[in-house]
Amino acid sequence: MDKKQEEFSGDKDDDSENGVDEYDAIDKFDKDLDDLEKKKIDFKRIKKVDQTKKRATVDSVLDERIYFQLNNLLKAGTIDRIEGIISAGKEANVYLAYSPNNEEYAVKIYKIDTNTSKWMRNYIIGDPRFKKVPNNVSKIIYLWASKEYKNLKRAYKAGLSVPEPIYVKNNLLIMEYIGFESIPAPILKEVKEPKDPVNLLNEILYFIKGLYQKASLVHGDLSEFNILYHNQKPVIIDISQAVTIHHPKAEIYLARDITNIFNYFEKIGVEVPNPEDFYYEVINLD
Ligand SMILES: Nc1ncnc2c1ncn2[C@@H]1O[C@H](COP(=O)(O)OP(=O)(O)OP(=O)(O)O)[C@@H](O)[C@H]1O
Ligand SMILES: [Mg+2]
Repeated sequence: MDKKQEEFSGDKDDDSENGVDEYDAIDKFDKDLDDLEKKKIDFKRIKKVDQTKKRATVDSVLDERIYFQLNNLLKAGTIDRIEGIISAGKEANVYLAYSPNNEEYAVKIYKIDTNTSKWMRNYIIGDPRFKKVPNNVSKIIYLWASKEYKNLKRAYKAGLSVPEPIYVKNNLLIMEYIGFESIPAPILKEVKEPKDPVNLLNEILYFIKGLYQKASLVHGDLSEFNILYHNQKPVIIDISQAVTIHHPKAEIYLARDITNIFNYFEKIGVEVPNPEDFYYEVINLD
């Protein structure tokens, strides 16, 4: 990466996000977890969380951790209330919360899981922004959350259509909420007939190109599952696995992202340009 790009992408200050030493924060959090059993969790303030989805019920240590963390956010005043769960997945849960100023936030909490941490390592190794790759499962997942935050920040600064990143700590990330009031925007996969699909395709191609050329990143998991459809426009999410264009597998991931998007649009009957031509247009930096 040349100097200009480095300045543009904000890489320089990337490792001191929030002014907190990452490893101090991790140590403190580990200690907090040890005390988990002893602490009283104020469930009453966590309104309506998980009325419908069973996955986030407080029936495992894993979910207790999440409740504990949400409760800490409430206690610290970072958020004022939690409205409900948007998504309960294998790797992360996403909640709709409100800031003290009544702004909507999406709070993504990664689960501390050994299997997840194993594949995460592959994306972290080879990324020049992460010099030390920890062995500890929690620490890998904390690094993962900070990776998503940094990637979002780079994409957002480059003016691309992603949720604005707001806060990251340990395995918890707060970002701009995409939706109307309490109804989150659907993923593209769930939209039966997107309006003006040609324009939609062009906006997604603009994102792929901009992410590569302006933010020096490749998404790496781009498909109709990780694009929200909001105000008839795409908002790209789930950017944690994105790698810099210098990562040894960056070009493989780029080709895969392009194929996924072109396949989706072909399936819904849009005439797509030649994917190879588009690939070369993206990687051509001059
Ligand atoms: N900023 C946001 N605003 C609104 N909804 C969001 C936002 N971020 C994520 N979501 C919702 O949460 C879901 C999961 O988010 P994301 O794709 O980032 O997580 P994931 O890593 O795929 O999680 P898992 O694989 O465990 O399902 C999305 O499909 C989307 O419905
Ligand atoms: Mg996803």
